[in-house]
Amino acid sequence: MPVTTQRIHNFSAGPAVLPVTVLEKVQADLLDHAGTGMSVMEMSHRSAAFEAIIGGAEADLRALAGITDDHAVLFLQGGGTLQFAMLPMNLRAAGASADYVLTGHWSKAALKEAEKLGPSRVAGSSEGTKFDRIPSAAELSLDPKAAYLHFTSNNTIYGTEWKGEPSAPAGVPLVCDASSDILSRPADVAKYGVLYGGAQKNLGPAGVTIVIVRRDLLARVPSGLPAMLDYRLQAESRSLYNTPPAFAIYVVGLVLKWLLASGGLAEVLRRNQEKAELLYRAIDGSGGFYRGHAQADSRSLMNVTFRLPSEDLEKAFVKQSTAAGLDGLKGHRSVGGLRASLYNALPREAVEALVAFMGEFRRKNG
Ligand SMILES: Cc1ncc(COP(=O)(O)O)c(C=O)c1O
Repeated sequence: MPVTTQRIHNFSAGPAVLPVTVLEKVQADLLDHAGTGMSVMEMSHRSAAFEAIIGGAEADLRALAGITDDHAVLFLQGGGTLQFAMLPMNLRAAGASADYVLTGHWSKAALKEAEKLGPSRVAGSSEGTKFDRIPSAAELSLDPKAAYLHFTSNNTIYGTEWKGEPSAPAGVPLVCDASSDILSRPADVAKYGVLYGGAQKNLGPAGVTIVIVRRDLLARVPSGLPAMLDYRLQAESRSLYNTPPAFAIYVVGLVLKWLLASGGLAEVLRRNQEKAELLYRAIDGSGGFYRGHAQADSRSLMNVTFRLPSEDLEKAFVKQSTAAGLDGLKGHRSVGGLRASLYNALPREAVEALVAFMGEFRRKNG
C-alpha cells in the first residue's frame, strides 16, 4: 500500500512518527467511524460515539500506566506550555513557593511561567555544563515547604533523562513534565502529584495534552480561576467542559490500543532501550568522529544528541541523510549538531538505517 511504501524514516522531535497501523485505521475510519456514517471530526462531542472514544482512551491509559482512581486523567489543550502556567495557578497557594529543577530549555520555560505568577525557586541545575547531565540527589537543595517539586523527566533538546524520579521532601507533591517520554516506559504514577505531557511525541497528534493529577490536590485549586484553566472543573467535567480536541483524543486512543497490543510499557521500554543502544553504540564506536552531547549516565532513550568534527560536516550530514530518506535529524539550535528522536512508534529498522548511514558517512569523511 502506498501509505507504507512511501514513508520515510522520521526522526522528528515532535510532532513525530505514528504507528502505521494506527494511521491505516484512521484512514479506514475516516468516512464512517464505527457505523456512525461520519468521521470523528464531524461528530458531536456529546454523542454516545464520542463518549465511547474518550472513555475508552481514559480506560486504556489507566490500564497501560496503572493509574488508580486516586488520580484524575484530563485531556486538555494548550500543550505542555499551558501546563507551565496552570500548575502554579492551581497548586501553589498564595504566598507559597514552588521548586524547579533546571535540566534544559523546557524546565527553564516552566520556571519562567511560574515566576510570572508567584514565588518560585531553583532547586538544582545542570546549566553550568550546558545541560549535559541530570544533577545528582546531593546537588539538589529542596524546600520542605514547597507547594510542589517540578522536574522534566526527559530533556528533548539536550538529550538527557532522569533514570529515577527525584525524591521530594515528605508532603511535597512531585510534578513532572513528561512531554517527551510519557508512556515510553513504566512509571509509578502513585509517586506523582501531577504528570503531564503533550501527545505529539509518543502518543498521537498535536492538540491534546494528557494531565494526570492526584485528586486530593484538587482541593488546593483556588476559586475564581478562568474555567479552562481550572483543574478541578476540568476533572469534574471529565474533560468535556467545552469542545475537546476530539480527533486528537481519538488518535491517542488508537495509539494506546497499539501500545497495549505491543505488550505494554515493559515491552515498549525494552524496544526503546534496544533502539537507543544501537545508536549510542554507533556513536561510541566511531573513534571520536561522532560525539554525544549527554554524559553517559544521563543519556536519553528518546532523543539522542551528537556532534560531528565540524559544523560543515554537520550540515553535509543533514543534507545527505535527508536525501537518503532519514528525516528530521538536524539538532536544536541551542545544542547544534544532530538529534535523532526515537519515540515509541519509530521502528528499529529506522535506527538500523541511520546507523548504516553514519558508518558510510564516517568512512567517506572521517
Ligand atoms: C519536555 C518538553 N516540555 C514542554 C514542551 C512544550 O510542549 P508544547 O509544544 O506541547 O507546549 C516540549 C516541546 O517539545 C518538550 O519537549
